[in-house]
Amino acid sequence: MSLSDFLFALCREGHSRPPPMVLVLCQGTPTSDGEALETWAFDPHMFRLHGSRSDERETVHQGDLATSRKLEGRVAIVTGSSRGIGREIALTLGSNGASVVVVYQGHEDKAHEVVELIKINQSGKAIAVRADVSSEEDVKAVFDKAEEAFGKIHILVNSAGILLPLYARLDDTSVEDWDRVFSVNTKGSFIASREAAKRLVRGGGGRIVNISSSVVAMLTPGYGAYAASKAAVETFTKVLTKELKGRRITANVVAPGAVATDMLFAGIDANVVVPGAVATDMLFAGIEATVQRIKALNPFERLGEPRDIAALVLFVVSDEGEWMNGQVIRADGGSEV
Ligand SMILES: NC(=O)c1ccc[n+]([C@@H]2O[C@H](COP(=O)([O-])OP(=O)(O)OC[C@H]3O[C@@H](n4cnc5c(N)ncnc54)[C@H](OP(=O)(O)O)[C@@H]3O)[C@@H](O)[C@H]2O)c1
Repeated sequence: MSLSDFLFALCREGHSRPPPMVLVLCQGTPTSDGEALETWAFDPHMFRLHGSRSDERETVHQGDLATSRKLEGRVAIVTGSSRGIGREIALTLGSNGASVVVVYQGHEDKAHEVVELIKINQSGKAIAVRADVSSEEDVKAVFDKAEEAFGKIHILVNSAGILLPLYARLDDTSVEDWDRVFSVNTKGSFIASREAAKRLVRGGGGRIVNISSSVVAMLTPGYGAYAASKAAVETFTKVLTKELKGRRITANVVAPGAVATDMLFAGIDANVVVPGAVATDMLFAGIEATVQRIKALNPFERLGEPRDIAALVLFVVSDEGEWMNGQVIRADGGSEV
């Protein structure tokens, strides 16, 4: 068991909720002036360890250590949360007190890992449910299982999505590929949003967040099918916002720029692996070069990270985010400006 797992287990022992912070004496004993005491401040909710010496205890980053249970009592379904952005969103909602339904398609092991992290490390409740989001039956079953496990559902985040790593121009896009992308990205978000509109709690706290992409604004060549599939999501979400009038359920879109996940790197990989290419350092340098190009376009000169998006989603689904409604929030560090 790792130190952090041990600490989380310790925090859970005898507490229905973990204490906000635990100070662990890791090594050494206080000298007469107390300076040799080594401490670790451990935040069970944020899953972080902060080292500090006793003589600097006042300088421990209290801001970082501040915990929040703002979603206590809320139930959240996060599709595509076995990996990438969805995973981080599930962990973040879990660490803020929500009971989370981790929806996955192929990576059962990774989905269970997320569930365990929420349960053990964040002292929350979570279950994993397999579903193909493009199947009405599967999505209904997700909502059924969520209600069985946790009761009324408050939050739906649709993060499941695919990007065919071919970067085909439209004149090279097959109807099969077009349909595949729309089936998961558009139909999947539609089916789950429709179910949410019927079943989310009414009268306050209901939230739908659909994940789109900044390529809808950037209109990058090679992303025709993908961008169109996400543009449709942005449009129906705005219509849904109006149709939800009177229920106090908000519906928004969060549209990330390039985020360092499997999807991004799979895309870059395939982009450089052209027919006839030979697997040499020169070829793989192409991946690095592409990442550098993406970074260079960004005012922060870095890729987005899943936590950049999860932090925004947390705000949108929280009570403080209620006035944010019917919006497409492009979160790309300014790449698109
Ligand atoms: N990464 C980026 O640069 C970026 C930028 C803009 C927007 N986005 C959008 O952000 C969202 C998340 O992307 P990501 O980068 O986190 O992708 P990712 O790392 O490839 O993860 C995709 C997730 O979607 C799930 N999924 C795929 N097809 C599914 C289906 N038919 N039914 C249910 N689940 C399915 C996968 O489940 P399994 O692994 O269990 O199969 C996985 O959990 C997507 O909507 C994507 O379009 C990503």
